[in-house]
Amino acid sequence: MRIYRFDEIESTSKFLREKDDIMERDLAIAKVQTLGRGRRGNRWVSTEGAALFSFVLKHDVEIQEDEYMKLPLLVGYSLLYSLKKIEELDYKFKWTNDLYLEDKKISGILVEKIRDNYVIGIGLNVNNLNLEEVKNIAISLREKTGKVYSLEEVIVTIVKDFYSNFQDFKNGKWKEILEEINRVNYLYGKRIDIVTFDKEESGIAGDILEDGTLEVFVGSEIKKYNIGSVHISKK
Ligand code: BTN
Repeated sequence: MRIYRFDEIESTSKFLREKDDIMERDLAIAKVQTLGRGRRGNRWVSTEGAALFSFVLKHDVEIQEDEYMKLPLLVGYSLLYSLKKIEELDYKFKWTNDLYLEDKKISGILVEKIRDNYVIGIGLNVNNLNLEEVKNIAISLREKTGKVYSLEEVIVTIVKDFYSNFQDFKNGKWKEILEEINRVNYLYGKRIDIVTFDKEESGIAGDILEDGTLEVFVGSEIKKYNIGSVHISKK
């Protein structure tokens, strides 16, 4: 594993995306990001104390392209698995790939494909307390437990666990992984608004299905979503 550490950088994912000799297991870690990016072009608040890192997974030709649709879920599952080892708390998985604790976001995941590689970027609120601008929607481990964690240890644990869980996924463990994700499915039974490319719909969220899609009960119909921005409905 080659580790690139930065006190400050625009974005660890951008660094790996633009690096021309990236290899599987390359890991970029930053103390602060000045241009942290979230999904759908959102900004990711990247203050000191958070674990901000990205790492590389090589596209494996033995795995069918479709299977990679499950990658964001697998990263979420693996992160949950690591977090439970670090601190046994009641984390929830919010489809497609956020982790929640007490109805607040503790982590966000951004998976991007760059030629033959996937760059997996994770922002995890660990020691940061200064979440003023997002305090009603975000939480950190330290805010919950009062403890201070070694960021490097947390990050290395998460990355190592991911490669090991990916191996299990390759060896056919998806059913068990999916069961675990559904056990902690944050959206299950909640009324949600889901925004896809062209429209917004509202319905009751159900399970995450075998192919990684989310089942939503919209009126008398059952729909399956494979992409979309989801919010708990305020209506
Ligand atoms: C989201 O919730 O929208 C995903 C947020 C992902 C943020 C991480 S922080 C490390 C890596 N570098 C980035 O610019 N983004 C990801």
